[in-house]
Amino acid sequence: MSQLPTLSVMEIVSERLLLRRALHDSDREGLIELSTDPEVQAYIGGPRPREEVEKHFDTVMAADAMSRPGNYIVVDNTTDQVIGTLMLARWWTDHPQRVTEDGEELLLGYVLRRGAWGAGYAFEAATAALRAAAEELPDQPVVLVTQTANKRSLNLAARLGFHPTSTFEEYGAEQTLCATRLSTFKS
Ligand SMILES: CC(C)(COP(=O)(O)OP(=O)(O)OC[C@H]1O[C@@H](n2cnc3c(N)ncnc32)[C@H](O)[C@@H]1OP(=O)(O)O)[C@@H](O)C(=O)NCCC(=O)NCCS
Repeated sequence: MSQLPTLSVMEIVSERLLLRRALHDSDREGLIELSTDPEVQAYIGGPRPREEVEKHFDTVMAADAMSRPGNYIVVDNTTDQVIGTLMLARWWTDHPQRVTEDGEELLLGYVLRRGAWGAGYAFEAATAALRAAAEELPDQPVVLVTQTANKRSLNLAARLGFHPTSTFEEYGAEQTLCATRLSTFKS
């Protein structure tokens, strides 16, 4: 695993949201929905059977959640209801499209429950995480990879200031790699 640091804070608060590393028992239903909802999963591998997801959640995820730096559960900061998840971690890849020599650039990923789309939550969560990372880490590239057909994700990337740098075929679909510099989020 990469030795380079990623975002280390346990919690990030924004206007409407809390991003937290800690997993609560009450997160179970919302997190299972993220993996089983066909609309949410349309461009990220497809929905998985509920039974399989429940088993994975109860055996692996519950035990492992805290051991993965840069992975956050995004909740409403007043109700603690799960809105989605956000990841800002090392890509740690030998992918031919990587933008750094070592392929250890920061990789941003986000998944929201279907009922939370269209309210600016993903933008708010990603901005908060990237600002926190810009305070903590030296300037460096940040990338995200999304299916080119995933217009919501590409729109969000553009709103965050990411620029498409390449497209490539993977998992039977065209993917777009977008990049920016972490320093663009420094206040
Ligand atoms: C990709 C994804 C996170 C985008 O969610 P989103 O809600 O569209 O993204 P944003 O947070 O940027 O919200 C933008 C929308 O909220 C609206 N909005 C409402 N209030 C807002 C506010 N206060 N601030 C900003 N936007 C606001 C915008 O007008 C925009 O609406 P539109 O979609 O009608 O144009 C979501 O579609 C998703 O989870 N998809 C499934 C997982 C996935 O594919 N992830 C990508 C993996 S790389």
